[in-house]
Amino acid sequence: MKMNHIAKVAAAALLTFGVTAAMAQITGSKHDLSATGGGTIKANAGQNNDEICVYCHTPHAANTDFTGAPLWNKATPAGTFRMYGATAAGVAGTTIAGTATEAQPSAPSLACLSCHDGVSAINSIVNAPGSGGYVAGGQNVAFGATPAGTAFTMPAGVTQIGDGDPSNVGLTNDHPVSITYVEGAASLKPVTTAITGWSGASSISDLLRNGKVECGSCHDPHLGESDTFLRRNAAAVGEASNKGSKVCLTCHDK
Ligand code: HEC
Ligand code: HEC
Ligand code: HEC
Ligand code: HEC
Repeated sequence: MKMNHIAKVAAAALLTFGVTAAMAQITGSKHDLSATGGGTIKANAGQNNDEICVYCHTPHAANTDFTGAPLWNKATPAGTFRMYGATAAGVAGTTIAGTATEAQPSAPSLACLSCHDGVSAINSIVNAPGSGGYVAGGQNVAFGATPAGTAFTMPAGVTQIGDGDPSNVGLTNDHPVSITYVEGAASLKPVTTAITGWSGASSISDLLRNGKVECGSCHDPHLGESDTFLRRNAAAVGEASNKGSKVCLTCHDK
């Protein structure tokens, strides 16, 4: 009986610790768009959507266009993107080594662009908190000083990936995404190479989605202890996440 009780207390403590550790990652970061979030772009206290996950996920009625971004609560971006190395919007681009990108960003990267492209509204969500509140194409909820019905897009600056006009500069000035990882091209290491200090990955292949590099290869949107959400977890490696360019040198043998 006594042992059993001790075991139960220990298990409860472990559970509490585990939950706290997971919460600490996104809570208070720039991806925490609740009133107590870490950035300047966020809800006001008392607004219906003063929550964290709701800007990206919904437990029900999610937009299923985003394979790889589970239970996605945002509409699909309307723009046609110009890919890295592409001559026009909506066609594949090519790298120096001759590897082609997809003609459009794949779902895992499109999910990030559904806020970061400078065109899609950050405050547009499919299923608003509370009873009802479902609009298939997304609805602009009241968000900080922005009233309901008005779009709030990513302000101009370096966090606007897609540069406010996805078809113009688009993704041409960003590291290629939605591109197949070809061993040897651009000095890329074998996908079986063991890696350390990365969240949820023990080899390069774990960083890839369907064999491709996407935004989520280098970033984890929940890892708020790194100011740029790098998957090479600052807390785990005890140094700035890209110190010595270790993110880049993980894949490129330069
Ligand atoms: C800024 C957008 C964003 C916010 C906010 C967000 N997520 Fe996510 N989440 C994502 C994306 C993108 C993925 C897909 C990640 C990938 O590519 O592996 C994901 C994946 C997940 C997954 C599945 C992947 C895994 O193995 O963990 C879970 C579970 C999850 N999120 C839970 C949450 C919870 C709970 C919250 C709120 C506390 C939250 N997320 C807030 C963007 C977000
Ligand atoms: C719900 C909208 C939303 C989604 C979806 C989203 N972000 Fe963000 N992200 C933001 C906001 C808002 C900021 C804060 C921007 C600012 O303050 O300029 C931010 C900040 C960031 C930053 C930190 C920028 C800095 O310099 O401090 C990174 C990196 C980032 N996001 C990457 C991603 C990636 C990668 C994804 C997809 C896995 C993603 N985001 C999905 C809204 C979003
Ligand atoms: C090959 C790795 C890699 C990929 C793929 C990648 N990023 Fe990044 N990203 C980084 C690194 C490293 C930084 C930190 C740059 C710095 O310190 O200035 C960064 C920074 C950012 C920032 C902050 C702006 C800045 O430069 O300070 C945002 C926002 C961002 N990334 C979003 C995205 C989105 C959205 C995608 C997908 C379209 C993406 N990233 C794909 C590696 C990557
Ligand atoms: C997850 C693996 C991965 C990481 C991490 C990574 N890259 Fe890459 N990088 C790629 C792939 C895949 C390509 C496309 C190579 C090809 O086939 O041409 C590429 C291409 C490039 C290219 C060449 C583009 C061209 O036009 O030929 C440069 C430059 C580059 N990466 C720089 C960086 C830098 C700088 C970092 C760190 C911020 C980084 N990479 C991190 C996978 C990665």
